Amino acid sequence: MIVAENLTRVYDMGKVTVQALRGVSFTISRGEFVGIMGASGSGKSTLLHLLGLLDRPTAGKISLGGMDTGTLNDRQRTRFRLKRLGYVFQDYALVPELTVEENVFLTSMVRGTAKEQYMNETLEILKRIGLSDRMKHKHNELSGGQQQRVAIARAIVNKPEILFADEPCANLDSESSKNVLDLFKQINREMKQTIVMVSHEEWHQEYFDRIIILRDGEILSDGPPA
Ligand SMILES: Nc1ncnc2c1ncn2[C@@H]1O[C@H](COP(=O)(O)OP(=O)(O)O)[C@@H](O)[C@H]1O
Ligand SMILES: [Mg+2]
Repeated sequence: MIVAENLTRVYDMGKVTVQALRGVSFTISRGEFVGIMGASGSGKSTLLHLLGLLDRPTAGKISLGGMDTGTLNDRQRTRFRLKRLGYVFQDYALVPELTVEENVFLTSMVRGTAKEQYMNETLEILKRIGLSDRMKHKHNELSGGQQQRVAIARAIVNKPEILFADEPCANLDSESSKNVLDLFKQINREMKQTIVMVSHEEWHQEYFDRIIILRDGEILSDGPPA
């Protein structure tokens, strides 16, 4: 359901150019939990941004769910992202003035979903991630690990086809990281959620079904964890 064909991304910095990706190809099936790993600067975030339609490749093709995304204009890309993709970043990016439940249902509310429906969906997802007793709390009343779980709830409440995560544990201690990874694993298994997650922590490997390792913008290896 994700097909990447010969992706390149060159950042043009005026006098110099940076070859962040140099021809990357793979196919990811529905329901896979894929880790994108590699050293800092190897192109992991660049690749995730391309796959998540947050950036465009310099050359190459990305198909998501059978759609050649290169044919979409900006408005269509935005709609595709809102309706079909979910994102988790390392800094949680919760809206500080809002409570936990408001952060989770904000997007649905803005999109005009009926209140009863988005309240039910929000409660269901917060139960699943074990934060239904924190619904009325603000982000500064939560630990980093809890905030990241709220961000995950927000990302999956609309049942996206693909969940993208860029180093979601980067700001967490190992205990909270483990909780977050366990949660990803759980939603991958129970909800058959396709997940593409960037990480550079060796010990995260065991969570992934498959690991794509990048080096200097190229695929070094692609397969199940060692
Ligand atoms: N917006 C940008 N402008 C210019 N160069 C960038 C930009 N983003 C990333 N790069 C460069 O592209 C390469 C890959 O970066 P990135 O994808 O962020 O790697 P990773 O996530 O693996 O650390 C690095 O050399 C980085 O400096
Ligand atoms: Mg990165």
